[in-house]
Amino acid sequence: MAVLKIYALPDPVLRQKARRVTTIDSSIRRLIDDMIETMRAAPGVGLAAPQIGVSLRIAVIEMPGEDTITLINPKIVKKEGERVVKEACLSVPGYQGEIKRSVRIKVRARDKQGKEFHIRGEELLAQALEHEIDHLNGILYIDHIESPDKLEEV
Ligand code: NI
Repeated sequence: MAVLKIYALPDPVLRQKARRVTTIDSSIRRLIDDMIETMRAAPGVGLAAPQIGVSLRIAVIEMPGEDTITLINPKIVKKEGERVVKEACLSVPGYQGEIKRSVRIKVRARDKQGKEFHIRGEELLAQALEHEIDHLNGILYIDHIESPDKLEEV
C-alpha cells in the first residue's frame, strides 16, 4: 500500500465528472487500499478517487471507531431532512465552511468484490456520504456555501 498525493484546488481533476468503474479487478482493489491508507495518513474521514488524481467513481469513508466503507459507483437513492453543518475538505486546505446537508440518506453502491449493497447514513455519516459522492460529480463543499461569510480560514 502507498500514501498518495492529495490533489487540491485549482487542479482540474477535482472538477471533472468521474467515470464509472466497469471492471472491479486487482488494480482497482489496489487503488482502494492506497486510498484508505492515504485517507488515514491525512488524516480524514473520507476520500474520493479524484482527490488522488484518478477520475473514477470510487470513494472510501472511515468514521471514528467504525468499519471502513468502500463505495464503487455510488448513487444516492433517497435523502431526507436538512441541517446546517461545518465542513472542510482535504482538497481545499486552510478553510472550513457552513453549508446545508441532508439529515438522512440512502446510497446504493458496489463493494470491493463487486457486490451491490445499500447503506443508510444519518447526520455525520450522511454528511460524509454526500460530500464524497459530490466529489465524483466534480462538486466541492464550497459550491454549497450560500454567502462569503459562511467560509472561514482555519
Ligand atoms: Ni472532500
